[in-house]
Amino acid sequence: MPMFNGRFVQRLVVLTGAGVSAESGVPTFRDPDGLWEQYDPMDLATPEAFRRDPALIYRFYNSRRARLAGVEPNAAHLALARLQREFAGDVFLVTQNVDDLHERAGSPQVCHMHGELLASLCGACGNKRPTDQPFDGASACPACASRGSLRPDVVWFGEIPYFMDEIEARLADCDLFIAVGTSGLVYPAAGFVRTARASGATAVEVNLEPSDTASLFHLQRRGPATEQLPALVAELLS
Ligand code: OAD
Repeated sequence: MPMFNGRFVQRLVVLTGAGVSAESGVPTFRDPDGLWEQYDPMDLATPEAFRRDPALIYRFYNSRRARLAGVEPNAAHLALARLQREFAGDVFLVTQNVDDLHERAGSPQVCHMHGELLASLCGACGNKRPTDQPFDGASACPACASRGSLRPDVVWFGEIPYFMDEIEARLADCDLFIAVGTSGLVYPAAGFVRTARASGATAVEVNLEPSDTASLFHLQRRGPATEQLPALVAELLS
């Protein structure tokens, strides 16, 4: 059975945040050049903002979706995909990211708790659909044909993240929890380390700097995800 930090590990949960995609060129939210340093999330990431100014929301998410075509997965995404494929145990990957870089790196399973940029959600019929195309208030829902009801399938502030039951169950039954490139400021994800520790898991943080919840982790791997994750994965697979 694989060992890490002097203990057997069988079930891993890995949580990723914007920092894992930063070195691919996808901006984070709260770093100095981050999205929420330039824009107010209350104008761009709430259901109220969508009702108030849908055209602005469509432009913002269409532009972020279009920019995904110009970025590539980095060594951190690739290392996690390798871990999922080669680890002699179970690896559950949950991401707060709405990009598709884990999938493009070859991750066999990705739980997108904050939704996906490359999907639309119809407010009229609830249909979710993959799309890499821009859409707006004039676009018709491919399922029910209603117009003006499509929105990006991303979770906004004030909404409940996806797959919480499955995530909580995985956290309650893991023996290693790894958080990568997340500031620890947005709940419920920021609370995952507590749940994992309550179930006896070892907790490791990979980040350029201490997150808001850094003191809850047993171990810190400080530095760029593209350096720290391949090293950590090699250790876990050795
Ligand atoms: P943040 O922008 O809040 O935090 C990014 C974290 O990544 C910071 O702790 C950085 O220190 C770290 N970081 C940056 N570059 C890194 C690198 N190359 N290697 C390692 N770490 C690096 O992003 P999140 O924590 O993901 O939600 O934000 C959480 C949620 O807040 C997002 O999912 C989004 C946002 O509002 C919604 O939109 C619902």
